[in-house]
Amino acid sequence: MSKSKHKIGIFDSGIGGTSIFKEINALLPHENTIYLADSKNAPYGDKSKEEIISLSIKNTKLLLEKDCKIIVVACNTATTNAIKVLRNTFDIPFIGIEPAIKPAALNTQTKAVGILATKGTLSSELFHNTTDLYSQDINVIEQIGEGIVPLIEAGKINSDAMKSLLEDYIKPMLKADIDYLVLGCTHYPYLIPQLLEMLPKHIKIIDSGLAVAKQTKAILKQHELLNLSATKGNNIFYSNGNVTVLKEILDDKFTVKALDF
Ligand code: DGL
Repeated sequence: MSKSKHKIGIFDSGIGGTSIFKEINALLPHENTIYLADSKNAPYGDKSKEEIISLSIKNTKLLLEKDCKIIVVACNTATTNAIKVLRNTFDIPFIGIEPAIKPAALNTQTKAVGILATKGTLSSELFHNTTDLYSQDINVIEQIGEGIVPLIEAGKINSDAMKSLLEDYIKPMLKADIDYLVLGCTHYPYLIPQLLEMLPKHIKIIDSGLAVAKQTKAILKQHELLNLSATKGNNIFYSNGNVTVLKEILDDKFTVKALDF
């Protein structure tokens, strides 16, 4: 089989990276994909750098066994802590995702931007380097989204508990007069409807999903790995956690299988 027919491998600590899968699938519908939801080990955000690296290596090895031609690390926490090691260890292109601090910092009028991400992302060197580069005269209000990922993994996106966490987390941002809220975790785009209800209209919410999909396409093209088939690709999802929640977030449109990994 030509390598272009091989799959785009995508992994996340759980179901959040499906927000990235959806962008990739919309842009590249002919690509075959395979998604790993490592929900058993979620959240990654509270783990040490060493643990995040070892889980990312485990996921990558499994995706390589399943014939992937490129790997999308659909997790800000895994990208900011492990992508360097992954790129140095495996001979395959990797696409990562980082909080979209740059567009927020370049466009803010109030000179204040909020960033909601995991502890693992906010404490990473990569995040600090990017933030320092683009936000010299800007007030960046960093907020750890403690507790959000476990609620999403439990299927409680629209719960009272979620609402009260979000209210608490955006309070200091509103006080600082932010006009951009950066979602620095791939689970969080599922909270956009609620956030839009809570935030004043002039505050824009941004995430990196579309940028990751475009970058995936560009890198596949560069390596002559784009699948030029005219038929729709095959999309498979594996979860080592709650399969029902993963099915729900995918609107029951794709094949979801339980797998212990
Ligand atoms: N979805 C992930 C991210 O983008 C990880 C969340 C977690 O497991 O803590 O950061």
